[in-house]
Amino acid sequence: MTSISSAQSGTFKIGGDIQINRLGFGAMRITGPGIWGEPADRPEALRTLKRLPELDVNFVDTSDAYGPDVSEELIREALHPYRGMLIATKGGLTRTGPDVWTPLGRPEYLIQEAYKSRRRLGVESIDLWQLHRIDPKVPRDEQFGAIKTLLDLGVIRNAGLSEVSVPEIEAASRVFKVATVQNRYNLVDRASEDVLEYCERRGIGFIPWYPLAAGDLARPESLLDKVAKRHGAAPSQIALAWVLKRSPVMLPIPGTSKVKHLEENVAAANIKLSDEDFASLDRQGKQQAMAAAS
Ligand SMILES: NC(=O)c1ccc[n+]([C@@H]2O[C@H](COP(=O)([O-])OP(=O)(O)OC[C@H]3O[C@@H](n4cnc5c(N)ncnc54)[C@H](OP(=O)(O)O)[C@@H]3O)[C@@H](O)[C@H]2O)c1
Repeated sequence: MTSISSAQSGTFKIGGDIQINRLGFGAMRITGPGIWGEPADRPEALRTLKRLPELDVNFVDTSDAYGPDVSEELIREALHPYRGMLIATKGGLTRTGPDVWTPLGRPEYLIQEAYKSRRRLGVESIDLWQLHRIDPKVPRDEQFGAIKTLLDLGVIRNAGLSEVSVPEIEAASRVFKVATVQNRYNLVDRASEDVLEYCERRGIGFIPWYPLAAGDLARPESLLDKVAKRHGAAPSQIALAWVLKRSPVMLPIPGTSKVKHLEENVAAANIKLSDEDFASLDRQGKQQAMAAAS
């Protein structure tokens, strides 16, 4: 049996600087319902995190807003001092209750939150810090300026953006080097296709969130279901294998609170889709995305 290893997904250098295996882990799901408070099964959440290095997953995505604080605290408890792992976090969204997310992009707040994340994670410098959202109430250059300050101070080593358009990446790039972009993207959600192509041209890492979604394509007898059966895999694993094959700058971060699901997700790195299956899935995924948008 082939061992499960994220190394099978290939590597990418964040900011041309820190090498990671492309298939990472999203640590949003290790909190309570509504991404609020402690997880229902704390020991299992810790077991899930501790399993990551054993599966060669060395790229973990979190945020000060997950919990809030809870996700970063659990990551530290399970994985500090990290040994070759890159822990990426974010700031810029406040939490006033379960499922409530409000942008706050005042520069002094962003700088404070990065300092607090650095302390919670127990690192000298955060390897990758991302602006969770551009706050429309604050001039964007003030937010980008705060990120430049954090880079200059060494509080963070690389910086990224989340849920942004190409013109926004271009505007940010005039102030600091954009290492990564994190937008919602999966087989059936292709609204960020132009952003992905832009990132690919410039060697910017593209972190698709919600990568496991496959919509109707996962139903019995659908194309995804048929390809999955041929590989002896779950449809969600094929959705992940498709995302990985889509671009060399793609850094998926499937999220789970369960060891079993983590192992299943990382095993998707072993699945190599044929060019034909990739293209058929691509076509059907785009069709479903267009049908959903109309
Ligand atoms: N930048 C942003 O604005 C933003 C927004 C949302 C998320 N994110 C990041 O992206 C990461 C991934 O996004 P996501 O969590 O929304 O989507 P996802 O990873 O595509 O899906 C996660 C969901 O699928 C379930 N799941 C995971 N693996 C499974 C498996 N093998 N079989 C069955 N169910 C499985 C999880 O539940 P179980 O816990 O039960 O496995 C969870 O409910 C997050 O963790 C976070 O780091 C970023």
